[in-house]
Amino acid sequence: MKGIILSGGRATRLFPATISVSKQLLPVYDKPMIYYPLSILMLAEIRDILVITNPEFLPLYKRLLMDGSHLGITITYKEQTQPRGIADAFLVGEEFIGNSNISLILGDNLVFGQNFGATVRKAAQIKEGAVVFAYPVRNPKAFGVVEFDKTGKAISIEEKPEKPKSNWAIPGLYFYDNQVVDVVKKLKPSLRGELEITDVNKEYLKMGRLNVIPLGRGVAWLDTGTPEGLLEASNFVAAIQKRQGFYISCIEEIAYRMGYITKEQLFELGKKQEKTEYGKYLIELAGE
Ligand code: DAU
Repeated sequence: MKGIILSGGRATRLFPATISVSKQLLPVYDKPMIYYPLSILMLAEIRDILVITNPEFLPLYKRLLMDGSHLGITITYKEQTQPRGIADAFLVGEEFIGNSNISLILGDNLVFGQNFGATVRKAAQIKEGAVVFAYPVRNPKAFGVVEFDKTGKAISIEEKPEKPKSNWAIPGLYFYDNQVVDVVKKLKPSLRGELEITDVNKEYLKMGRLNVIPLGRGVAWLDTGTPEGLLEASNFVAAIQKRQGFYISCIEEIAYRMGYITKEQLFELGKKQEKTEYGKYLIELAGE
């Protein structure tokens, strides 16, 4: 399975902070936002990753993540010239996807929780169909919403419904078989002019091939769409890291623990940023 991180869009809800900067490069506490979704793909054992962003921001992402080899993974880049919708990622990424199954994560989605690594590793092993997640929220109107029947089977999905049929939102992390490219090619843009990921999921639901996994209370899915959400996410990460001493979404640590890089490489990555707590954490890990 390969992975795509969709990191474009205009982020107008964060203006003026994002007039000249890509939202997904803003810090969430001590690291760029994109580290969080990247870490989820890495935990899912996905090592071939495409980052899609606006042309003007692309050099910034390349400078940050380079070709991924320092993390033992491969990162390539592609432009999305217009925000044509989340599902457009599969058209922009068609060549990259090739014959593979594909996971898509939004560059602004932060998910953290016990065993979530195992959950995504399992999802990444699907041979056919699709896997998405459901997470209870108080404001379902702002998301894709899934409705379950009494047996727990998903029966409907709607994008930002006026009258949500449940409080189960679908986070921006999706796993599909290779058929997804054809599914997207047949889609029509929605009323807001976008190729909707929710329409892709509806199609898989119609085919009886959509697996929806509910996430429990032990998982945190955080919002970064507004200054308030961003601050709360930063506070959350800071609180856990300070209390436990373990870092959330430290991509170098994950690369090391997954066996993608050696202790020596980890140490070198730490040395490059040794003035920060983050860098010191890597050096300490390498010394263990
Ligand atoms: O976060 C989960 C939600 O993400 C889902 O529950 C919804 O079903 C899904 O439509 C999406 O809703 P949003 O309102 O958050 O979508 P938004 O348009 O804000 O885009 C999400 C991210 O994707 C954002 O960081 C920008 C990026 N993006 C978006 C579009 C439409 C792109 O890079 N390119 C695009 O064309």
